[in-house]
Amino acid sequence: MNKLRVGVILGGMSSEREVSLNSGRNVYDNLDREAFDPKAVFMDGRGRLWVIPWQLISQNTTTDITERLEKEARRISYEGLKEEIDFAFISLHGKFGEDGCLQGLLELLGIPYTGPGVLASALGMDKHIQQLILRAAGIGVPESVLVREETWLNEREKVKNALFERFRFPLFTKPPREGSSIGVMLVRDETSLIQGIDEALKWDRTVLVEEFLDGTEFSSIILEEDGEPCALEVTEITPQSDYFTYDDKYMPGRCRKFTPPKNIPPDAAAAIKKEAVRAFRVLGFRSYGRIDGFYMKDGRILITDPNSSSGMAPSSFFFEQAACAGMLPSMIIGRLIENALVIHGEKQGPL
Ligand SMILES: Nc1ncnc2c1ncn2[C@@H]1O[C@H](COP(=O)(O)OP(=O)(O)OP(=O)(O)O)[C@@H](O)[C@H]1O
Ligand SMILES: [Mg+2]
Repeated sequence: MNKLRVGVILGGMSSEREVSLNSGRNVYDNLDREAFDPKAVFMDGRGRLWVIPWQLISQNTTTDITERLEKEARRISYEGLKEEIDFAFISLHGKFGEDGCLQGLLELLGIPYTGPGVLASALGMDKHIQQLILRAAGIGVPESVLVREETWLNEREKVKNALFERFRFPLFTKPPREGSSIGVMLVRDETSLIQGIDEALKWDRTVLVEEFLDGTEFSSIILEEDGEPCALEVTEITPQSDYFTYDDKYMPGRCRKFTPPKNIPPDAAAAIKKEAVRAFRVLGFRSYGRIDGFYMKDGRILITDPNSSSGMAPSSFFFEQAACAGMLPSMIIGRLIENALVIHGEKQGPL
C-alpha cells in the first residue's frame, strides 16, 4: 500500500520563520514512518517552495538553509506541490502561513491540510477582529482599543487622551497579526506607551492597546475528533519575565509550565476547557487550535489569544498536553493528520 505523502511545510515569510523551522523539523522527525512518507517542504523568504533533503532541516537558521537551496534542494512550483505530496502538515507560523494565504493555495490545489480553512485561519491571526467576534458571542476578552498608524501620526495627542480617559497603566501594546510575542510590549507610563505603539507599528499598520490582565495565564490545546473539539489538559504558565516573552517561550529553561495547572483549581480548569472549546467553535476553527487566556483573581476567564495553529517544538504546549493524555508526539501527530483527512473528506467547497 502506498503511504500518505505528508509534506511538512516549514520556514516561510513571516517574523516567526525560525520558530517554524523548530516546529517543522520536530514534526518531520516524529512522523510515523510506518504510516506516512514525510517530505520537508521549505518556503523561503520570497514564498518559493523547495523540497529539501533531511540533512538540511537540522541547520541552525532558515538563512543557513536558504544559502544551500540552489545546490542541495529541488525548487517546485506551487502547482508542482500536488505532484509531491498528498497532505500538507502546515508548520508555518504567522503571516502568509497561518493566516489563510497558504490555506487558500492548498484549497485551489485540492491538497488537504492541518488546521482550519481560509476564513478561520485569518481570524485566528487577527487579534482585533477575533475580539469583536468573541465579545459578541459573550466570551470574555480584554478591553482594548485599535489605533491606526495614520491617526497615531496625525492626531497623537487625541489618541493619548482617549487612552488615558479609558485606561490606567500598565497596558499592553501589540501588533494585531503577529505571534511569539513579537512586537508585544508591557507599558507602564506615557513614554513607554509611545515606544510600545511605535514598536508595534513596525509590524503592522494598526496597534492593539489592551488593558493589563492581572491573573494566571493559561494555554489550552483543542483537538477535533469525529467533528467534536475536545480540550486536552490545561497548562498554567509562570513566565520568568514580566510577561511571556519570546525568550521565555523559546530559550531552554526560561519559564515554568504546569500541566495540569498548579494555581488554578480543578473546577476552574474545567471551566477554562469549556470556554476554550466555545472560542474554538465561535471562530470556526477546525482540526486543532490553541486558546490562550487568563484566569482572573475574581474567577473570570478571559481569552487573549486564540491561535488556529500551535508551536510544535519538543517542549511545546501541544506535546506537553498530549503527553499528559498519554500520547507520544508520533501518536498525536498521526491523529491530527487522520482527523484532518476526515474533515477535508466531508467539506463542501473550501473548508
Ligand atoms: N492584556 C494582557 N494582559 C496581561 N498580559 C498580556 C496581555 N496581552 C498579552 N500579554 C502577555 O504577552 C504575551 C504575548 O501576547 P499574545 O499572547 O497576545 O501574543 P502572541 O504573540 O500571539 O503569542 P503566541 O506566541 O502565544 O501566539 C502573553 O503570553 C502574555 O504573557
Ligand atoms: Mg498568538
